Amino acid sequence: MIFYFSGTGNSKHIAEKLGELLNTSVKNIADYYDEVTTLKNFSLDVDNEDFLGFVSPVHSWGLSIPMSRFLKKTKINYSGKKVFAVFSCGDNCGKAREQLQEKLKKKSGILCDFVCSVQMPNTYIVMKGFGTDSKELEEKKLKTAEEELPRIADAIKNGKNYDHYVIGTHPFLKGRIVYPLFMKFTMGDKKFFADENCISCGQCEKFCPEKNISLKDGKPQWLGHCVKCLSCIHRCPKRAIQYADITKEMGRYFYKKQEVV
Ligand SMILES: Cc1cc2nc3c(=O)[nH]c(=O)nc-3n(C[C@H](O)[C@H](O)[C@H](O)COP(=O)(O)O)c2cc1C
Repeated sequence: MIFYFSGTGNSKHIAEKLGELLNTSVKNIADYYDEVTTLKNFSLDVDNEDFLGFVSPVHSWGLSIPMSRFLKKTKINYSGKKVFAVFSCGDNCGKAREQLQEKLKKKSGILCDFVCSVQMPNTYIVMKGFGTDSKELEEKKLKTAEEELPRIADAIKNGKNYDHYVIGTHPFLKGRIVYPLFMKFTMGDKKFFADENCISCGQCEKFCPEKNISLKDGKPQWLGHCVKCLSCIHRCPKRAIQYADITKEMGRYFYKKQEVV
């Protein structure tokens, strides 16, 4: 069983591909949104599964809020030994690995020694100075990832090491200082809006994994519990969703199967 979270499809693709290669099922943790946000005790029994895997994007050099919340709230019952995590990142992952290992051990008593990262096209566009990758870099990352995934699956299957976790520079600073500040100060959704190009198609509402968007008079309203996965911005077919004055000219990206060469 592979549990994944994905805003713009990169992690979903990785999870599905590994699921195929390992012949194991794949589950979107967004499907447990109601349980993990309302129940006091929530548990999942995956003891009959061959593998237990987690796939998630890196957010601010740490765990995305949905994956963090899932691991914190869910008692996972699994006594097997084939536990792994794969992070999808634009560049590097900082303390995401340690955060996942700590949370999984604390709530479920499960050790996860196999953690690696896969570089995928960058999706962080809501701060000046950041942006999507060039088309060339996007294609290069997707091609490399496609070559890497069978090697990762092979290592997981055969209990081998796969020493590829890109930690980046200053992991302590990023993990212990930048990540908490990012989570505290940048999570609000007051700066999102739909501009005049909005056609009321409702894709943003449909794809929000946090049920944080609702159409009112045909226009998206953000309900105050955004986790900044940026699915709404990237998936809008009319590029109508903006974040402050930052995203109008920025690129958009989400994973589409047919684009992979
Ligand atoms: C809020 C946010 C923060 C991000 N922070 C990082 C980061 O710290 N390091 C990094 O390499 N990529 C970062 N990224 C890029 C994503 O991790 C990367 O594009 C990932 O593949 C997206 O996965 P998804 O399509 O499954 O959501 C960030 C993206 C978002 C939306």
